[in-house]
Amino acid sequence: MKFFIDTANIEEIKSLSETGLIDGVTTNPTLIAKSGNDIKDTIRNICKIIKGPVSAEVTAINSTGMIEEGKILFDIAENVVVKVPLTFEGLIACNKLREIDIPVNVTLCFSSSQALLAAKAGATFISPFIGRLDDIGLDGMNLISEIRTIYDNYDNITTEILAASIRTNNHVINAALQGADVATIPPKILKELFDHPLTKSGLDTFLDDWGKTGQKIV
Ligand code: G3P
Repeated sequence: MKFFIDTANIEEIKSLSETGLIDGVTTNPTLIAKSGNDIKDTIRNICKIIKGPVSAEVTAINSTGMIEEGKILFDIAENVVVKVPLTFEGLIACNKLREIDIPVNVTLCFSSSQALLAAKAGATFISPFIGRLDDIGLDGMNLISEIRTIYDNYDNITTEILAASIRTNNHVINAALQGADVATIPPKILKELFDHPLTKSGLDTFLDDWGKTGQKIV
């Protein structure tokens, strides 16, 4: 499973990239707004740190505008993936951008039928939003599972399932169990994946016992 981080915060991206575990980054207009920085500078800076796919979202609502913005965003760096919303206009833009070999992440996916349409439009990634479905009392993970089954029924579908709107450690694990290709994880949740109380207490014991020996390795 690939791990992307869902943030536009350069310092966090720098720090987490040191783990060697980060395969890509996703941003959206909310995350760019939160960063307080210019979108093009932000995407350029992220692409200098992370060599894998970096999603940058268009903000136009018609396909012509999305295509125009998508081309500008893709010009920033060769690893930019243009993110478009799962709307009628968004899928027109997806189709056209894919025709000129620009990778596309179709975002704001909340149903299997939408995911099927995105695959037919040639999406590189489909982003089902798990957390936001859970928020309204539905089962976000069930959507990942349905999309996996549908995509696996057709050899010609190459769209990768990118589990988004991840809020918990369990979301990551369950997305992996359902066969999502990618999870885009907020930095806070990614850091939590490292932790287990038994790891902490086990390490405390090892270090106490080691201290008693008076030995040193270096
Ligand atoms: O990248 C979009 C997505 O991950 C949003 O997450 O927590 O705002 O629903 P959230």
